Amino acid sequence: MSQQNIQSSLHEMRQFTPSAQFIETASMTPQKLAQLYEQAEMDNVAFWAQQARDEIDWQQPFTTTLDDSNAPFFRWFPDGTLNASYNCLDRQLKNNAHKTAIIFEGEPGDIEHISYQELHKRVCKFANALKSHNVTKGDRVIIYMPMIAQAVIAMQACARIGAIHSVVFGGFSSESLKDRIEDTAAKIVITADGGHRGGKIIELKATTDAALEMGCDTVETVIVYKRTGHSINMKSGRDIWWSEAEKDLPEQCEPEWVDATHPLFLLYTSGSTGKPKGIQHSTGGYLLNAITTMRWVFDIQDSDVFWCTADVGWITGHTYVAYGPLATGATMVIYEGVPTVPDAGRFWDICQRQNVTIFYTAPTAIRALMKAGDEIPNKYDLSKLRILGTVGEPINPEAWMWYYDVIGKQRCPIVDTWWQTETGAHMIAPVPAATMTKPGSCTRALPGIDAAVVNDDGVEITHPDQGGYLVMRKPWPSMIQTVWGDDDRYISTYWPMFNGKYYLAGDSARRDADGYFWIMGRIDDVLNVSGHRLGTMEIESALVAHPRVAEAAVVGKPHDVKGESVFSFVVLKGDRPEGGVDNDLTQELRAWVGEKIGAIAKPDEIRYADNLPKTRSGKIMRRLLRTIAQDQEITQDTSTLENESIIPQLQGKA
Ligand code: WTA
Repeated sequence: MSQQNIQSSLHEMRQFTPSAQFIETASMTPQKLAQLYEQAEMDNVAFWAQQARDEIDWQQPFTTTLDDSNAPFFRWFPDGTLNASYNCLDRQLKNNAHKTAIIFEGEPGDIEHISYQELHKRVCKFANALKSHNVTKGDRVIIYMPMIAQAVIAMQACARIGAIHSVVFGGFSSESLKDRIEDTAAKIVITADGGHRGGKIIELKATTDAALEMGCDTVETVIVYKRTGHSINMKSGRDIWWSEAEKDLPEQCEPEWVDATHPLFLLYTSGSTGKPKGIQHSTGGYLLNAITTMRWVFDIQDSDVFWCTADVGWITGHTYVAYGPLATGATMVIYEGVPTVPDAGRFWDICQRQNVTIFYTAPTAIRALMKAGDEIPNKYDLSKLRILGTVGEPINPEAWMWYYDVIGKQRCPIVDTWWQTETGAHMIAPVPAATMTKPGSCTRALPGIDAAVVNDDGVEITHPDQGGYLVMRKPWPSMIQTVWGDDDRYISTYWPMFNGKYYLAGDSARRDADGYFWIMGRIDDVLNVSGHRLGTMEIESALVAHPRVAEAAVVGKPHDVKGESVFSFVVLKGDRPEGGVDNDLTQELRAWVGEKIGAIAKPDEIRYADNLPKTRSGKIMRRLLRTIAQDQEITQDTSTLENESIIPQLQGKA
């Protein structure tokens, strides 16, 4: 297995314990945590049953906790019924109706506070709009929106009527959008005329139009939220403005009670081969872990102002924007834009003005803001912050320390949370008042989560610091249900080893002498660019789709800010450019990939060669390409190559 990404963390010895003052004000105390571990240890299933009874309002209480008769298709709380939107909104109306649910800030600076009562009304009204456009329980709804409150309203409205939403990140291209629409066979697309990002307008409606022109025959209606007000095309008979769609409709909408296993949403994520997978999540189990992790890892309290900077197009924006904070009655910030508009102080400015107490972002953002220098955050009053979180990729100890020192002023515990689209919620993460932290380690598995590092035979590696496969040995409530429409792929991707006994996360990891987990990277060919998982296969396919490209291989190269950058090797139809340089073509191919997949997938570098290095069985030698991309000395055996002269070409030396 590949052991890339073993960072300097190997020698990381620093340890940090929460201050006495933090422990005193924490709601999740070390004692409570110890109790939870004890209960889970005694009987894992009974433990989750108790959590589910305590944390969720069931319409019909479940009598079976876990049905494992058709493993690995585990079904949690199968005979219970509930509604996710009811659990997020209606149950706050009794005591929290006037509490602010959402503080929205647009990139241009517009600000809106939305109370729970107001949010409830808007969700109900929009749910009625969906219903009046024939959306019923089980229908798929594509949401392609900017990061604005209406994206959450749209998701909640779907949940309210039992429709299955599938959010597509606003940075994805028309082709990616089309693929997702077609895979879900969605009836309806919810989008906006545009969104503000990086001082520009993102043309969401135009991209939607382009996607629909390529096929997508199932789509009957496109609902368009007016965000920017700039001019766009509206196709008569198909497109309708959000405000028109909900006009005169009531502000009440009875929740549709669904089975706990009813799909709440699909979210597409990259795999190493083939098309993106529609990760299917349940309603009951998913919501439960969204709630428990809000309590355990974020220690959420009534007075907190919670801000997760993730876009709703990613799982983090589902669990810790659209569902977790609302289901725990929190006040949260939603920000539309990028961290650097008008300058690199934007995040800290928002933290200061909105009194943010819990801040959750990605290592790529931390590294970018760190590069901008300490003077910028030092200009702001960040004294309200009490917990800082990170997610999406391994955080280098340097960035961890900067976050801890400069942003948290050594007062705020850092919660480095390991989880995945497929796990639905945090799996391995500190509990801030109880867990000693080490820069670069996501620490320990949460109560009820049985994480382990095993070797190729599925045997647990007990020797400290020896790398292996990260697996889960027991099912957990918010686990992936299946890959939409492809049960076989679910089994072959996540349960391929050890007789299907363990969930394979696809990451390599090691545990230190204290049992702490250190994530080392992906074991497959998936890149992690700025915290976004990109399949090398997809980028290669996009390159090969260009008329001049015959073959392409893509690898990741460690990058200061982005974590990994996309590095590609291309074989052209016809002759290789003179000296391997053709700047015009390189620009054209980068733009092409941007169009096909999205700007995040654009290769940073492209090298042209006469051939790609392959094994005799025809597999591209990716490890060799990674070595070359990183300018390292080649130690692999290249004697099996049919054409060794390509090596200097791949190295950019010929
Ligand atoms: C990586 C994001 C190290 C990991 C929630 C995982 C991490 C993939 C961490 C999932 C972390 C996520 N430390 N690596 N704290 N969090 N990863 O599906 O490789 O977008 O498998 O979910 O990101 O990415 P995904």
